[in-house]
Amino acid sequence: MEMEMSSEEILKVVFPLLEGRDLATCMSVCKQWREIAQDDYLWKCLCANRWPSVCKQSSPPILSYHNLFKSFYKRKMYRALLPPKLSLKDLEFYIDIWTEDKLMFSEVVPGPVLQKGSWTPPNGISDVLRLHLTSPDYKMTFPMQPRFNIPLGQIVSVSVFVGRRDTQKVACIINKSICDYIDRSTFRALAFDYLDFSPEHPFVSGIRAWISLLFMDHGNESDIDVFGIELDFCDAADSEDQVLWLLDMLDWK
Ligand SMILES: *[C@@H]1O[C@H](CO)[C@@H](O)[C@H](O)[C@H]1NC(C)=O
Ligand SMILES: *[C@@H]1O[C@H](CO)[C@@H](O)[C@H](O)[C@H]1NC(C)=O
Repeated sequence: MEMEMSSEEILKVVFPLLEGRDLATCMSVCKQWREIAQDDYLWKCLCANRWPSVCKQSSPPILSYHNLFKSFYKRKMYRALLPPKLSLKDLEFYIDIWTEDKLMFSEVVPGPVLQKGSWTPPNGISDVLRLHLTSPDYKMTFPMQPRFNIPLGQIVSVSVFVGRRDTQKVACIINKSICDYIDRSTFRALAFDYLDFSPEHPFVSGIRAWISLLFMDHGNESDIDVFGIELDFCDAADSEDQVLWLLDMLDWK
C-alpha cells in the first residue's frame, strides 16, 4: 500500500512534464496509470500549450480536453467512409462513342459489368497497359465486343450517362468529350469531363471523370484497335465505395 501511494505520487509529478503523445502511451500501461493520466487538467495544460486561446473559452469543451487534444493534435490521414447508399447493382451506364459523326458504339452497360476485376484483359496487349490495368488504383473497365478500329486523325468523342434504379434518375458523367490525348506509351486514348454535382454539395468542384479507349499494339500507326474502355475518377475516388459516394453526389435529374 505504501509502495502504491508513493508510485502514484511519482506519477503525478512526472505526468505533467510529458508531451501529449507520451502521456497517451502511459494511458495504455495499466489501470492505475490510465486513471492518473486521464486527469483532464493534464490535457487542459497540453491544449493550453498548443492552442492557448481555445482554453480561454467560457465553458469547457463538451467532451473533454483529452478528446480535444486527441482530435486535433494530429491530422487523421485516413477517414473511414460510411457504406455508400448506392451500389453498382443499382446503376447502369449509357455509353456512346463516335468517330466524327459516325456512331461506333452505343450500349447500356450494367454497373456490375464495370466492377473492377470483373474482366481479364486479353492476350496481346502491351505490358505497360497490362501493368496499368492490374495496378491497385480503382478503375472500371469492360471489353468492347466487337472490337473496332478508329483511323488516326479522326475526332473521337465519348458520352457517358448513368441511371439509378432507386430513384429512376439519370446523371451526366461525360458530356460528349473529345479523346484528344493519345497516350502511345500505355495505349490509351483519353477524354475527361468535370462532374456536375447536386446543389446540395455547393463547394465541391474540379473533379473529373476520365474515360480511356484501350487499344492494342498491332504495329499499325494509322489506326487504333480498340478492345476495351476504362472509366475512373482518379482525382477523388480510389475505391468502389468512394466512386459510389461520388456518383451519389451528382446532379441527378
Ligand atoms: C453538354 O455539352 C453541350 C455542348 O458543349 C452544351 O451545350 C451542354 O450545355 C452540355 N450539357 C451539360 C448537361 O453539361
Ligand atoms: C493499317 O490500317 C489501315 C486502315 O485499317 C490499312 O489501310 C493499312 O493497310 C494498315 N497498314 C498495315 C501496315 O497493316
